[in-house]
Amino acid sequence: QELQLNLEQIEKGGYEHFMLKEIYEQPNVIKDTYRGRLLANTGIIQMSGVEDNIEKFTNADRILIVACGTSWHAGLVAEYIIEEFSRIPVEVEYASEFRYRNPIITSKDVVIAISQSGETADTLAAIKLAKEKGAFVFGVCNVVGSSISRETHAGAYTHAGPEIGVASTKAFTTQITVLTMIALRLAKVKGTLSNSDYFRYLQELEIIPEKVLEALNTNDIAKEIAEKFKDSQNCLYLGRGYNFPVALEGALKLKEISYIHAEGYPAAEMKHGPIALIDEKMPVIVIAPKQGHYDKVVSNIQEIKSRSGKIIAVVTKGDTQVKELADYVIEIPETSDALSPLITTIPLQLLSYYIAVLRGCNVDQPRNLAKSVTVE
Ligand code: G6P
Repeated sequence: QELQLNLEQIEKGGYEHFMLKEIYEQPNVIKDTYRGRLLANTGIIQMSGVEDNIEKFTNADRILIVACGTSWHAGLVAEYIIEEFSRIPVEVEYASEFRYRNPIITSKDVVIAISQSGETADTLAAIKLAKEKGAFVFGVCNVVGSSISRETHAGAYTHAGPEIGVASTKAFTTQITVLTMIALRLAKVKGTLSNSDYFRYLQELEIIPEKVLEALNTNDIAKEIAEKFKDSQNCLYLGRGYNFPVALEGALKLKEISYIHAEGYPAAEMKHGPIALIDEKMPVIVIAPKQGHYDKVVSNIQEIKSRSGKIIAVVTKGDTQVKELADYVIEIPETSDALSPLITTIPLQLLSYYIAVLRGCNVDQPRNLAKSVTVE
């Protein structure tokens, strides 16, 4: 048994939990995921699964993304990116809903199934249904040789390496990396991005690992904020545009491992309900980077403040306006709006992690949850 314990310690590579190790692996695994596929200097994106089927993608009436949990959130980010870059309509569905509702799907649709484990029963069933209806099905999986990777017509692996912590972290950012490369490749073929924007995004994606590394410096402030809010009973996460799915993912991470009730909302929807919940006991985490609806988010922050909510804001380094309003700010490096989820999600992962640790929760194996859900 002692041997077993030691082995686990070695696997954790000096980190207290797998989750923290996996959060810290993100700069490297994002790089592993684009290595050999993204050649920023020459403007090339090459993924054989995409290239072999490029016409299916570019002729598609729409792209339908099916997934569950965190992978579904990556799908939502991809919806915004693919539509913006390549102007192909995208819909994102929970695999469990899709499979049971006689969905309208034809051979002119491309279905992208996203799954870390490649074993999620509902996602697998959604793929089978889409295939029956004649759609081309593309997989974005992490586990090589998994059921979903075998069931799909083609695919592109994320290279996150084994993810042990039940709460997904590095799988999420590597999924976004793959999906962003797909969006860029489609944009190139369809001519929907200007040459300069195309090159700029490629270069930005190439240096994202350095920015993720810098974003990991929010570790200490995340720990400090966790101390203050560890006894909260509720928590609200707000974001707009590309960072709306990040708000959902931030809330999911907190629920999963700390058992604090948390909700993610598009910041502007706050006035249609959640604002009623805000009082001095309610921490509100607002994702407010400089790029992307900044002024609108600032006015949302003012609305929270006037109702005495506690504001924790994720802002771009050097921000002054939000700093004046927020109780705590977490500074992250600047990047373009479209790529910002890869950065803004980092401090939210750390915040959930430290809150769960301080509450004495089993971070790597939260109650009632499983790493891969092979039942319906
Ligand atoms: C479970 C896991 C989540 C994961 C979801 C989808 O709920 O606990 O972390 O996001 O399944 O899993 P998949 O392997 O399909 O990405």
